[in-house]
Amino acid sequence: MHTRILIPTLALAILSACSSQVEDTLPGQPIKHRQEAFKDILRVFEPMGTMLRTNNYDAERFESKAAALAERHERPWDYFVEGSFQPPTRARAEVWSRADAFEREVEHFLEATEALLLAARSREIHDIQSAYDTVYNSCRSCHGDFRDR
Ligand code: HEC
Repeated sequence: MHTRILIPTLALAILSACSSQVEDTLPGQPIKHRQEAFKDILRVFEPMGTMLRTNNYDAERFESKAAALAERHERPWDYFVEGSFQPPTRARAEVWSRADAFEREVEHFLEATEALLLAARSREIHDIQSAYDTVYNSCRSCHGDFRDR
């Protein structure tokens, strides 16, 4: 058993996953770069969830995180290059064998993060919660099909 379950909150346990200690030996280190891009996404996404869950919504701070997420939402995808299904990846082979379905998940994620930014700018808490949930479900849906647990 790995000891990944040390993370305290359910949200984090579902969305995050520690990188293994194995080096990415591929030229240009695409696996390392995409894993770092995801970590960077989590870093700005998590505080938004915390604000909503703990009733500490701060309009300005939330909007700046939503903008940071939209800035980062393109970053992981170009690193899913052919020939990068090997250690230390936790992507499943389906990323490449079901490339169309993966691409649809990416598109959905891009739209959901744009919508979250618009909702954040509206400062309508109801819209924000629902847009946040849509992004959260997009992370989960893609991980469910395309990432190993
Ligand atoms: C379109 C699919 C897709 C979407 C959407 C997606 N992910 Fe992922 N995510 C993956 C895949 C595939 C991996 C495994 C990458 C690898 O190890 O090569 C991953 C890995 C991760 C990792 C682990 C990085 C590491 O250090 O190994 C984190 C954290 C993460 N995602 C967070 C998120 C969060 C948060 C969201 C939503 C805001 C999200 N992801 C949306 C597919 C997705």
